[in-house]
Amino acid sequence: MKKTLLPFIIIIILIISGSIYWLKKQNITKEETPTEDTYTKEEKEKLAKLDNINEKIDYFNMDYLSRYLTYQQKNPNLKIEDIITRVNIGLDQPYYTNVKMAPYLNQIYILSNKYLALGENYVPDNLETLSSECARSGMQLVHEAKEKFEELCLAAKKDGYTIRAMSSYRDYNYQLNLYNRYVKQDGKEAADTYSARAGHSEHQTGLVVDVDNNQIDYTLFEQTKEYKWMQENAYKYGFIMRYPKDKDNITGYEYESWHYRYVGKEIATYIKNNNITFDEYYVRFIENKK
Ligand code: DAL
Ligand code: ZN
Repeated sequence: MKKTLLPFIIIIILIISGSIYWLKKQNITKEETPTEDTYTKEEKEKLAKLDNINEKIDYFNMDYLSRYLTYQQKNPNLKIEDIITRVNIGLDQPYYTNVKMAPYLNQIYILSNKYLALGENYVPDNLETLSSECARSGMQLVHEAKEKFEELCLAAKKDGYTIRAMSSYRDYNYQLNLYNRYVKQDGKEAADTYSARAGHSEHQTGLVVDVDNNQIDYTLFEQTKEYKWMQENAYKYGFIMRYPKDKDNITGYEYESWHYRYVGKEIATYIKNNNITFDEYYVRFIENKK
């Protein structure tokens, strides 16, 4: 009698413990996945006004919900995805407010702009001097950007073009003097449209070059055949035009045909194909993900 009961008892125990394990697992999964009930009635109404885009894009930030709605009211013709992107950049607030320190120091996808600062003491690792064939004397970039810029410069040379770095890494104090000079010359408001304040210039990352063709002033670069070559080829070497035409409301700076930023080939290709700025790329694909 006892012998016949034993397997039966073991099976019952297995079924009970299996069920307990399954029920616990269900509960944990439930807690981890936010459901509709995570939000209050008021939040749900606000999310509906944004077409519940939080369900579709992973860079939606609930902390900014009210800011998204205010920005939407002020910009009713903007696509909701762009509203989220621009508020995440910080563009619903005046320039140089809510400034945070830039994360991702020494990474090729670091972003610095009017809301993200590099600070007084940041000097990138691995700064190297560019070859005199491709730059004015004493120009520096970080190792990877230097290698790629020289590749770009030599490829251009092969095609019969001269692309020369005439400004590259600039330290905090250099930018401070430069910006102050512009302020004296044109006033603060004007200077802010074309020059970064000290600690905010991407030149300080060692990932940026201003180029010319060694013939005419760099501010006229757009008129050169070298500019056209850059438009077609820069992305292959991981460089993007950082302040494109008609994007000053996003980048915070006037168009600069001569200023190129190294981000690596993958990011450069995406930015070129999708005609977006690096500021937009950053909040969509890098911030809080890397
Ligand atoms: N001219 C660019 C914005 C800079 O100062 O970094
Ligand atoms: Zn520049």
